[in-house]
Amino acid sequence: MTNNKRRLSPYEQNFLRRHGVEPLDCIFNEDIPVEYIVGKAEFYGLTLFVDQSTLIPRVETEELVSLIIGDFGDLATKKKITFIDLGCGSGAIGITLVLELAKRGFSGSAIMTDVSSSALKVAKKNLDHLKKHLEYKNLVVNWEFTLVESDLLSDVSIPACVDFIVSNLPYIPTEKINNLPTSVKNYEPLLSLDGGKDGFSLIYKLLMVLSMNDAIIDTTIYLEVYDEHDEKFISENYPILLRHFEISFILDINKKNRFIKAKKITR
Ligand SMILES: C[S@@+](CC[C@H](N)C(=O)[O-])C[C@H]1O[C@@H](n2cnc3c(N)ncnc32)[C@H](O)[C@@H]1O
Repeated sequence: MTNNKRRLSPYEQNFLRRHGVEPLDCIFNEDIPVEYIVGKAEFYGLTLFVDQSTLIPRVETEELVSLIIGDFGDLATKKKITFIDLGCGSGAIGITLVLELAKRGFSGSAIMTDVSSSALKVAKKNLDHLKKHLEYKNLVVNWEFTLVESDLLSDVSIPACVDFIVSNLPYIPTEKINNLPTSVKNYEPLLSLDGGKDGFSLIYKLLMVLSMNDAIIDTTIYLEVYDEHDEKFISENYPILLRHFEISFILDINKKNRFIKAKKITR
């Protein structure tokens, strides 16, 4: 360990102060993310518990939530929604979706899964906190939550009509993990980052599992992906997916390819 004092950015200083830590009291000589110091992260206007078993939810993922709300939030014909948040980590996506949908009058069922039991504990802590919190408990009262420890969908009982599945699976190609900032590669869980050789292994596996599952018919699949996982990448490397799914590619705020929206082609 070096003795270099860490220079905190104004954002980091404000973040620490907002969460009750006076940055001048601390000498940081490691680049641990401030979110792990206070055990909390901000996402879509909420403060969520995080620890080193969970990814710190990112701003791009807030866009994924907005994308889904844009598609489902205004549906006048349907007021009950069932969805799966696969690889939920801290629960950021599933929890904010429930709150945003509930604010728009929806009730329903949220199934949140992760292969990591430690991450699921954090998601449960966030859910329990929400259910007790004055501001949110009336919103979530008509929602049913199921937390499942599962490798992809292997241990999940998929209900008859799932409106959508959302997933932000690890998507960094293995050989690029080492190029990530030390605050990411030394602190965030590898299980949240490493997407295999080309970053698409788990996502491909999930899509193939879904392509073979008869319960998934009219379900929309929303995925966060690496910027290189664009139309060209998929047609060159995974053309089989285009036989099973109609896929749209959506850019993030930085104009980078970031989200996939897929629907099964029914024949
Ligand atoms: C990039 S993180 C996303 C966490 C959270 N959804 C978010 O957006 O902040 C990926 C998550 O997928 C989980 N994961 C990794 N492999 C998985 C698998 N085979 N099945 C289910 N979840 C998996 C990790 O434990 C991690 O929580």
